[in-house]
Amino acid sequence: MMGNPIKHSKSPLIHKEFAHLSDQDITYSAMLVPEDGFVDAVAAFFAEGGKGLNVTVPFKQQAYELADELSDRAQRAGAVNTLICLTDGRIRGDNTDGVGMMRDIANNHDGRVTNKRVLVVGAGGAVRGVLAPLLQENPASVVVVNRTLEKAQVLADQFTDMGRIEACSFEDLAGDPFDWIINGTSASLSGDVPPLPECVIGEYSRCYDMMYSADATSFNLWAQNLGAAATYDGLGMLVEQAAESFRLWRGLMPPTGQVIASLKG
Ligand code: ATR
Repeated sequence: MMGNPIKHSKSPLIHKEFAHLSDQDITYSAMLVPEDGFVDAVAAFFAEGGKGLNVTVPFKQQAYELADELSDRAQRAGAVNTLICLTDGRIRGDNTDGVGMMRDIANNHDGRVTNKRVLVVGAGGAVRGVLAPLLQENPASVVVVNRTLEKAQVLADQFTDMGRIEACSFEDLAGDPFDWIINGTSASLSGDVPPLPECVIGEYSRCYDMMYSADATSFNLWAQNLGAAATYDGLGMLVEQAAESFRLWRGLMPPTGQVIASLKG
């Protein structure tokens, strides 16, 4: 795994657990790469026989650019979090973030977005990474709300061919509560809550924060206080996206439930 910073990364621990539980012999470690040294670090890694690599902040766009071929979902995401060395030596780029979130919702929270009204909060890289797998589940509609409306509009325009998706500003949110509210902003990192009106939450609303922390995130606390039916954080997404990367490299899906439980402590 390459990133900067990498200090708090749980990925080495997650992959070690996957390898143990599925009886695979792998070495996976976190590599701190200087901001301007990513391309060289990737070349060296594969030249030394590396088979696969996870990429995290701030290198996901650079990984997208250096891959020799891309999966459809990586193309849509405009970012790559998984690099795979193909048998002919070329490098394939994929993005497992979106499928990781959808699997977490379906498998770990018994949730479905099919035919549901979904509000996605934020319009940065995290949101772009999940929109294709989300729209593939055929929600009734997706509204992307962002502080900077233009960014939400650009994003919605890029995905209109996949389903009903529109952009909106926080001030324009009105009407019935949403079935799902997915927070893809970085607000929870600083303990902030996006300026959502209370009307978006109803007694059936389920809320998902892509961030995770030991305690409830600020967004999830806000939603709980307004009576949301359920709130989930992004720990399961982290483990599920890692599992999909593991599957791409090793050809088998590792068990995730036990790993999520052990990370929760
Ligand atoms: P990432 O790659 O993690 O998505 P990003 O591309 O910097 O990071 O995007 C961060 C997102 O969080 C943006 O949608 C940002 O809104 P703007 O586009 O208007 O800047 C959103 N964001 C960050 N802090 C926020 C806050 N306190 N309230 C609402 N939105 C916030």
